[in-house]
Amino acid sequence: MGIEMNTDAVVLVGGKGTRLRPLTLSAPKPMLPTAGQPFLSHLLARIAESGITHVVLSTSFKAEVFEEYFGDGSKLGLEIEYVFEEEPLGTGGGIRNVLPKLRGENVMVFNGDVLTGSDLSALLDTHTEKEADVTLHLVRVGDPRAYGSVPTDAEGRVTAFLEKTQDPPTDQINAGCYVFRREVIEEIPANRAVSVEREVFPALLARDARVYGYVDTTYWRDMGTPEDFVRGSADLVRGIAPSPLLEGERGESLVHPGAGIAPGALLIGGTVVGRGAEIGAGARLDGAVVFEGAVVEAGAVVERSILGFGSRIGPRALVRDAVIGDGADVGARCELLRGARVWPGVTLPDGGVRFSTDV
Ligand code: GDD
Ligand code: MG
Repeated sequence: MGIEMNTDAVVLVGGKGTRLRPLTLSAPKPMLPTAGQPFLSHLLARIAESGITHVVLSTSFKAEVFEEYFGDGSKLGLEIEYVFEEEPLGTGGGIRNVLPKLRGENVMVFNGDVLTGSDLSALLDTHTEKEADVTLHLVRVGDPRAYGSVPTDAEGRVTAFLEKTQDPPTDQINAGCYVFRREVIEEIPANRAVSVEREVFPALLARDARVYGYVDTTYWRDMGTPEDFVRGSADLVRGIAPSPLLEGERGESLVHPGAGIAPGALLIGGTVVGRGAEIGAGARLDGAVVFEGAVVEAGAVVERSILGFGSRIGPRALVRDAVIGDGADVGARCELLRGARVWPGVTLPDGGVRFSTDV
């Protein structure tokens, strides 16, 4: 057996998901439906596939939802345990707080919102070969300012960690997955909030700890904003993004059982339609994420947007790059564009929001 047997997984899922509000007012970010499953299911399936069996979920915000859904993890072939933070302890504090549950020599920590196909065994191999204290999965992105910028030297050793700076030294960023030697976690201060990015990594580098990077060019996306959530969901549907849960079911759209699609409705661009949703005649959905029970009336257009549980888009409305909260009702011919967010339960009257002057 490989070193996976000696490795625990810890998934950080305690964040509030503020950038995805209002959807995250009712569900924690990792539980939002993504190509028909909670996002976290895709991540847990990857962990199971790697051979790791023991997973600790580090929870805080809406903690109960996780255990209700995943239970002891046996359905996924995993043993899942839960550690709850009454007050959020931050990413580093969350890791420190699960220490009593850890069993192995190595701990693989995951941000709970990252969609990637990275090879977890290769990451572990790098960690072992380098005899590292911590090994970080690193990827290159177009705009590194929203992430942790992580320069490395010719041997792959990390030389700095700069979280969300305006002028990052490199476009190589922290991909949100790390292997820690268990003893390194014991060094993190207990019982207070600690950021792994702003405190733990800089402190390790300051004392010359062996911190290495594992760089790859696999698919990678942080799902934490509406734009990224919509893109990642569409990429899963179209087969651009990997998930062990979606082998061989890919196409231009994914329609779940019990959804009603009227004749002449067009579903393209990786659109997902959840259970019990209804799409009217002539509606056009391009890269739309339609949660369970939402309704899109005839002739409406929905592009690159998320429609919350039980929301309704009225006839001939236009929704583009927007987020519609659970149960919201967007009246006929309304136009919601460019980052518009409608809060749950809000009703917009017919023709009540326009960007154009047409009637
Ligand atoms: N248990 C616990 N407690 N978990 C938390 C807490 C907390 O107080 N705060 C955040 N988390 C979890 C979130 O639920 C999420 O899964 C993960 O930690 C990362 O938080 P995000 O809020 O998504 O961070 P980010 O996307 O701004 O930045 C992080 O991810 C980037 C890659 O996606 C950083 O790690 C960056 O350095 C990195 O580049
Ligand atoms: Mg994130």
